[in-house]
Amino acid sequence: MKALARAVFVAAVFAGLGVAAGGALSGSASRQAGHTKLTSPLGLPPVPEKYAVLPVDKIELGRKLFFDRRLSFNNTLSCAMCHIEEDAFASTQSKRAIGMEGLTLRRNTPSVLNSVYQKTLFHDGHESHLDLQVWLPLLAADEMANPSMGYVLDRIEGLDDYKARFERVYAAEGISIHSVGDAIAAYEATLLSGNSRFDRWHFGGEKQILTKSEMAGFEIFTGKGGCSSCHLIGKDAALFTDHLFHNTGIGYRASMHSDREYVIPLAPGVETRMLRHEIDAFGEKLRNDVGRFEVTLNEDDRWAYKTPSLRNVSRTPPYMHDGSVATLEDVVEYYSSGEAAKHATNGKLKRLDLTPVERANLVAFLKTLDGDDRGRR
Ligand code: HEC
Ligand code: HEC
Repeated sequence: MKALARAVFVAAVFAGLGVAAGGALSGSASRQAGHTKLTSPLGLPPVPEKYAVLPVDKIELGRKLFFDRRLSFNNTLSCAMCHIEEDAFASTQSKRAIGMEGLTLRRNTPSVLNSVYQKTLFHDGHESHLDLQVWLPLLAADEMANPSMGYVLDRIEGLDDYKARFERVYAAEGISIHSVGDAIAAYEATLLSGNSRFDRWHFGGEKQILTKSEMAGFEIFTGKGGCSSCHLIGKDAALFTDHLFHNTGIGYRASMHSDREYVIPLAPGVETRMLRHEIDAFGEKLRNDVGRFEVTLNEDDRWAYKTPSLRNVSRTPPYMHDGSVATLEDVVEYYSSGEAAKHATNGKLKRLDLTPVERANLVAFLKTLDGDDRGRR
């Protein structure tokens, strides 16, 4: 039933794309000048061809949409209110995202920096096209809560400041299912973050730039820690992900503690704590989270989540798909103690029993992965 609903949704989006192609390709020669070529910073692979050269007007339009609260049903939520620019385009204020009317979502908000390189999107990879992804938050009842795609298009149509901009970028097409998603994706494609201290050391040959402790952490990361068997480092670039899904025990642990405590934000700075059965008694039941299984219905994928990129990881606590691990020290302890390995099916996770110094070194290494995107604009 759910799979069917998704298939219909995707079919509808593709129908929109069909109509759109003509418009998108009809850019006039005079506009060629106003393009920007996205060159990737040190440590990142080349920008995928589809996004490598973009009209400046399109990026600006996408940026405006990304930050516009009027895209949500009650004019309160923009993409940027969960993907907060100062927080590396993630949220650090809450474990799970806070959506429409203060509802707590199931999952932690991931950073959208470098999302142009992601092969699948969301913690369980339930979308694979960046330019279609936008429709899921726009339509999710607990996120931007719009009732339909048509409703969103009518809403944008009714806002005076958009008509001319869409016509400039998408001449024949105007405001459409395709153009809205395409513009936001174009903006997201510009959110590149590399040239970290790690990159300058590893790819740039600045051998003096890391401390002894950070270099020792790198040895653990790529050696006895086995971290880089999933958080990959390539020859010329590193995304710190294998683009695959693994059970590292976080989802399992959450499911076994089904009456866990939730922090409910009441107003900025005011919180209350409730047990799950108390929330379920009056609210909409929180859906269980079984990870990649929800997409594939394959038992092996139960509680498996996408390997996240570790770029900018020091800037995006709390961690894991549900934000249940507070600090990088806690993450390293979780792996070291063998907690993660208990549930692993592919032999890549082992109990590590790292010494306190080794754990500190590993954390120090993780902190070298902060990119230099700050102040890009
Ligand atoms: C209420 C908070 C909230 C809002 C509003 C929101 N997002 Fe998200 N976003 C999330 C959460 C939470 C996830 C992860 C959800 C999951 O895995 O199921 C996510 C995932 C994503 C991802 C996938 C990243 C990855 O690496 O897998 C992208 C891209 C994204 N959002 C872009 C957007 C855009 C564009 C908008 C506006 C149209 C938007 N988001 C609005 C909270 C939000
Ligand atoms: C078997 C593959 C695998 C190995 C090996 C592995 N990880 Fe992970 N890592 C993952 C997955 C999958 C997640 C996401 C789990 C979730 O969301 O529930 C993750 C999450 C993380 C996070 C949280 C990132 C965030 O943004 O929430 C950090 C930090 C991390 N890993 C560091 C490490 C370190 C350090 C090691 C080595 C000690 C390591 N990982 C080994 C697959 C792996």
